[in-house]
Amino acid sequence: MKTGNPYRPIGVFDSGVGGLTVCRKIWETLPSESIVYLGDTARVPYGSKSASTVIRYALTCANLLVNRNIKLLVVACNTATAFALETLQEQLQVPVVGVIVPGARAACKHSKSGRIGVIGTRGVINSGVYVKTIQEIRPDAKVYSAACPLFVPFAEEGWTEGDVIETVARTYLSDLLGKGIDTLVLGCTHYPLLREVIAETAGESVRLVDSAEETAFAVTQKIEQENLRVPDHTRGNHIFLVSDDPKNFAQTGARFLGYSLEQVEWVDVCDG
Ligand code: DGL
Repeated sequence: MKTGNPYRPIGVFDSGVGGLTVCRKIWETLPSESIVYLGDTARVPYGSKSASTVIRYALTCANLLVNRNIKLLVVACNTATAFALETLQEQLQVPVVGVIVPGARAACKHSKSGRIGVIGTRGVINSGVYVKTIQEIRPDAKVYSAACPLFVPFAEEGWTEGDVIETVARTYLSDLLGKGIDTLVLGCTHYPLLREVIAETAGESVRLVDSAEETAFAVTQKIEQENLRVPDHTRGNHIFLVSDDPKNFAQTGARFLGYSLEQVEWVDVCDG
């Protein structure tokens, strides 16, 4: 069944720079695909906002990307996935992929003991969505979670090493690590930017899992199912949009991606 022009880009959005962790995996996995990435930097953080606000923000981001003629939407934000995935799937005419099921799946696959920790924003942790999703996939799992809201501004600032972040990480993780977990889900797309400090704090016996790789796999499956995959010999292009100052985003993004984001364009994400 043909469902449209496969050369349309994949749309990806997050509240800020964190979704680039997902974006990067998608383009490593699918180099022929074009991507339009939107970081809603004017309204970051989402993680401390109410469900209704996050749904409203997610809808404006999604509609902006749909107006750019995307063929599939990736919600590269755990908070937006937790609160808005269903609404987006109901309201949009394009397929929508979130990051929570892929992350939960990866954790269940990698954990030997079934003792799994999850860290995320306050919104994600309070929603209980990871506990529910992990236990649906693996009913024997024991899931322990902790909100780590300060990690997001550290990641946005690119402040990923040094005494201050080490102390913050130790303070956030100590209870969780006391539960004997062997797997820790980075349930926020900003946290892979702090991977080193989190790994050092957690120690070698704890495997870190982020949803980026599994999400890229889910995207691949979806575009294949929908007959929307572009042929492998083409090369995709990447466009970056932000709702606040592009300069800061370009700097942090470049540090993380390893190359400069030459074109970061400001867009008006009005509440509509
Ligand atoms: N990257 C977002 C997530 O995965 C959180 C950042 C924020 O609080 O906006 O939940």
